[in-house]
Amino acid sequence: MDFLPSQIIRKKRFAGEHTREELNFLIQGFTHDQIPDYQMAAWLMAVCLRGMSERETVWLTQEMRDSGVVLDLSALGMTVDKHSTGGLGDKTSLILAPLVAAAGIPVPMMAGRGLGHTGGTLDKLESISGFNVQMDLHHFQSQLEKIGCAINGQTKEMCPADRKLYALRDVTGTIDSLPLICGSIMSKKLAEGMSALLLDVKFGSGAFMKNLAEAELLAQTLCSIGTQSGKKTRALITRMDEPLGRFIGNALEVRECLDIMEGKSAPVEGKGYSDIIQLTLELAAHMIFLGGKSTDLKSARSLAVELLNNGSALKKFSEMCIAQGANLECGLPKSRYQEEVRAQNEGYLCFTNLEKMGLAGIHLGAGRKFQSDQLDYSAGIEVLREQGERVQRGDVLFHLFHNNHSRAQAAHAELSGSFIIQMQPPSRSPLIAKVIT
Ligand code: URA
Repeated sequence: MDFLPSQIIRKKRFAGEHTREELNFLIQGFTHDQIPDYQMAAWLMAVCLRGMSERETVWLTQEMRDSGVVLDLSALGMTVDKHSTGGLGDKTSLILAPLVAAAGIPVPMMAGRGLGHTGGTLDKLESISGFNVQMDLHHFQSQLEKIGCAINGQTKEMCPADRKLYALRDVTGTIDSLPLICGSIMSKKLAEGMSALLLDVKFGSGAFMKNLAEAELLAQTLCSIGTQSGKKTRALITRMDEPLGRFIGNALEVRECLDIMEGKSAPVEGKGYSDIIQLTLELAAHMIFLGGKSTDLKSARSLAVELLNNGSALKKFSEMCIAQGANLECGLPKSRYQEEVRAQNEGYLCFTNLEKMGLAGIHLGAGRKFQSDQLDYSAGIEVLREQGERVQRGDVLFHLFHNNHSRAQAAHAELSGSFIIQMQPPSRSPLIAKVIT
C-alpha cells in the first residue's frame, strides 16, 4: 500500500496510532533508501514525544526484524539467548554461553560492542588473541551445531533497518524513547531465531535506566514483544549501582571469567567474585529452565552450579575459543603500569556514580571516545572494595592498569567523582530485584 510519509509523520505528531501497513511502509521505505533521513528523523522525534501503543511497538519491532535475514534454528531444537541492557564489569555472557551449552541447550549469541560507559562482549572476546567475532552466518550456524555455542557480532544481512535507524537516532537526539529502544533491542534478538530469550534489565547509576520503575517498564515491554513474537521471554531486573565482580576492562574481565570457570578465587581480600558468580548462576538457571532441561528453577540452579564447578563450562569455553580462531595459550595482554588509588579519609565506601567509573575506563583506553578508536585491551580498573565496606585513610581502593600516564591521570580524576567515603553505611539494593515472566 502507498502512503504519503508526511501524512504518517503528521499522524504521530498528533498522537495517532499507526496501522501495521503504515509501519511496514515506513521501515521498508527507509531501509531501501526510498524515505529520506529528514522525514524519518521527523517521525522519530514525533515517536519520542508522543510514544507508541504496545501493539504499535510490537509491529515496529517485527517490521524491523523482517528488514533483513531472520535465522531459522529450528533444526537445533530449543535454543536460548540472553541480552543485558549493559552495565559496568558485566561479563556474564562469557560464562553463560558455554555453561548453558554444556547443559545441552544451544546458545546463539549475537553480542555488541561497548556503548557509552558500558563494555561490550565482542570487545572483551577480541582481547583473546585471534578471536573472530565476525563469522558469516554459515559458520555461525555450523559452530552452533558442532559445539552448541557461538558468540558473534550481528552480520550485515540482519536488521539493516536498526543499523540505519540507530545511526539516525544517535545524531537527532532520539535515542531515549521506550518504543524505539525496545524495537532496536528486540528486532536484533528476534532475527537470531532463538526459541527463548532471557533479559537482564539493569537499574542504577551505572545503567541506562536509573531507577527500578523505569527498568520494570522496559522489562515488561521487552517481555511482551518477545512473547507476542512467539518466543518464551522473561527478564531479571538487577542492580547496577556497584560494579559487577572485581575487574573492569577487556582482558581483565576475560581473566576474571577464566578464574571463575577454573574455580580460582579473587586475588586478595576485599571485593571478590561473589556477585558476578551469583548473577551468572541465576541467569544460567533461568536459561536452563527456559531451554527445558530442568522442570523447575531449583534443579536448574543445581545443574548450573555443577556445570560451573566440574569444569564443563571451562571446557566448552575453550572449544568455543578454538572454533573461533583464538589461542588461550598465548596469554592475555598485560598493561605496563599499575597505579593505586587510595582512600583520602576513613568511613564507609559508597559508589555514587558508576557512569563516571565507566568513563574512567574509557580514559584508560578500555572503551572508545570515538567509534574509530583502537582499544587498549590490557587497560582497566580493579575494584578492591565493596559497596558499604569500612575503609581507613590510605587503604587502596582501586588499581588502574594502563600504558599511558596522562590517560591514567584523566582516569584518576574521573574515578574520584564516582564514589564518596561517608560516615554512615549506604543502603544496598538486592542484586536481583525482580523477575518478570
Ligand atoms: N541498545 C540497543 O541495541 N538499541 C537501543 O536503542 C538502546 C540500547
